[in-house]
Amino acid sequence: MLDRTFRKNLLLWTSAVCAASAAFADTGPLTEVPGDPARGLAILRDGSLPSCLICHQISSLPDRDQGQLGPTLDGVAGRFTADELRLRIIDARKISPETIMPAYYATDGLFRVGRNWAGKTIYDPQQVEDVTAYLMTLAD
Ligand code: HEC
Repeated sequence: MLDRTFRKNLLLWTSAVCAASAAFADTGPLTEVPGDPARGLAILRDGSLPSCLICHQISSLPDRDQGQLGPTLDGVAGRFTADELRLRIIDARKISPETIMPAYYATDGLFRVGRNWAGKTIYDPQQVEDVTAYLMTLAD
């Protein structure tokens, strides 16, 4: 049963998400320095950050035990623009609110954040750019 408070909160939340998403969609790159694909690859597979390869597969990489929880990232540059990929990395909830994909550059509205991560983002802005630049090399 959806009570009124819940529905009101849901509405507020949805409009907040839409507003934030519009803001991010217009942002373009987060830094002046263009992303570096080689650094992006190193960041993406860094096991001390939540590695994209926990959930995704990139078949050109030799890494073993790549994830199957999300779609393959093979050819992802052909399916999305850099802005769309950046937004997905920044906060995938802006694209699919129920997603299990971590928000790599957001601190708001997250649940069960480990104490060491409270108030911090997983990536810094340059890391977001580097990973985006690497993804843009994954054409078919
Ligand atoms: C905990 C699992 C998880 C992790 C870690 C994760 N993702 Fe995802 N990702 C998903 C899931 C699940 C989807 C499917 C759509 C959705 O639920 O948002 C997805 C969707 C995507 C998509 C859209 C792909 C498509 O074809 O629709 C891209 C691009 C993406 N992720 C990139 C990344 C990158 C880059 C990283 C690391 C910075 C990453 N993901 C980390 C789970 C994850």
